[in-house]
Amino acid sequence: MKNRFLKKIEDRSAKIGIVGLGYVGLPLSLEFVKAGFPVLGLDIDDSKIQMLAKATTYIRHIPSEKLKAANDTKRFDYTSNFARSAECDALIICVPTPLDHHREPDMSYIVNTAEALAPYVRKEQLFSLESTTYPGTTDEVLCPILEKKTGLKAGKDFFVAFSPEREDPNNKDFSTSTIPKVVGGINEESLKVADALYGTVICKTVPVSSAATAEATKLMENIFRCVNIALVNELKVVFDKMGIDIWEVVNAAKTKPFGYMPFYPGPGLGGHCIPIDPFYLTWKAREFDSATRFIELAGEINANMPYYVVSRIMEVLNDEGKSLKNSKILMLGLAYKKNVDDTRESPSFKLWDLLEGKGAKVDYNDPYCPQVPKTREYAKYAGIKSIDLSKAGEYDLVLVATDHDCVDYKKLANDAKLIVDTRHALANGKNVHRA
Ligand SMILES: NC(=O)c1ccc[n+]([C@@H]2O[C@H](COP(=O)([O-])OP(=O)(O)OC[C@H]3O[C@@H](n4cnc5c(N)ncnc54)[C@H](O)[C@@H]3O)[C@@H](O)[C@H]2O)c1
Repeated sequence: MKNRFLKKIEDRSAKIGIVGLGYVGLPLSLEFVKAGFPVLGLDIDDSKIQMLAKATTYIRHIPSEKLKAANDTKRFDYTSNFARSAECDALIICVPTPLDHHREPDMSYIVNTAEALAPYVRKEQLFSLESTTYPGTTDEVLCPILEKKTGLKAGKDFFVAFSPEREDPNNKDFSTSTIPKVVGGINEESLKVADALYGTVICKTVPVSSAATAEATKLMENIFRCVNIALVNELKVVFDKMGIDIWEVVNAAKTKPFGYMPFYPGPGLGGHCIPIDPFYLTWKAREFDSATRFIELAGEINANMPYYVVSRIMEVLNDEGKSLKNSKILMLGLAYKKNVDDTRESPSFKLWDLLEGKGAKVDYNDPYCPQVPKTREYAKYAGIKSIDLSKAGEYDLVLVATDHDCVDYKKLANDAKLIVDTRHALANGKNVHRA
């Protein structure tokens, strides 16, 4: 069965199903189309299917022209009808893995996807999970659900692998195909076919001995970032008290050609990955009577950053004889990082909420997010529109929460009365304060 599958990969006749056409699944679909495979995108969100049919993008850094080019090949199809998964030789699952209200893994997306695919599982299919998750998910959650409707056995009748996504949206240096990809199978055969498939679209694959090892690799990468960002955030607060600029320190330290890697402070963690993924391990570690103290501590420090920023704003206003209560604040940036339109888990929402809670009147500007999207936690802000930055001078203080490159920071420094800059976007100046 392995050789038949490998042959289909080689002659590009294998049909690739991508389940979940978001930030991860859509670019991956386009890579497989580009490599000559027929691709079927599956998503429960019908609006995405309709937009793809019109080659209209819903992810800012994926231009509509790319979608049109994929449509023109006649090899890119999409549907919300999961019965069509039976047409596919490989099914790559890229659905969300958030935390629930108790900050525990919300496995519902993976479970629902597996349940939707289960009735149509057939012999010789490959299932590859890409969603970030705790070690053991592929073996303990995905395989049993895929097996239960048809009675077919994972590893014997069909292949199963885990291959974590390392997408970094809008990274100018790396894209889906140029980021090496870790692959782990539930058995040797699964690894072989998954590795061969990814090898057709990714510059380099990194096979590992099990699906759980691949799951753990992804978590370790993101825990590493989370802990180091917390470290630099903690140092920022200490150095600031000593009158030392953390940005100057980081820029000097990074000239060391070995043994140091720069991480930058900010107003708190954001995005779909770094604030969330580490807690998948924390949850699973409990099953093994193990604590993840670094993760907890990093989470605590990073979660405290918006409070620190608000206290700095209060100090800065106080020095001007003003109170935060009734002050007009313009927050620059709603996206969690620069040059993207992704506001998931953005610390800007927390900052907004804290500032309003202290009686400030807050508006925001974000050229990438003209209107606040619906969020579960901050539904009250949905629909509010971005204010034109030309009005910056009308505010008591401008808070730089995200450092989008398209902003004219020199002009902002001229226009604004006071600025609190959490990203080192502005040069030093009389009215510029770091936080
Ligand atoms: N965004 C990133 O930069 C990034 C990077 C690395 C890893 N990841 C991981 O990749 C996974 C996907 O993240 P994303 O950013 O692409 O999410 P996303 O929200 O952009 O996309 C997920 C898509 O899945 C669809 N979906 C939800 N439930 C579904 C179901 N039952 N069946 C079919 N489709 C369904 C949604 O409609 C959406 O289109 C997550 O586990 C995330 O942690 C994301």
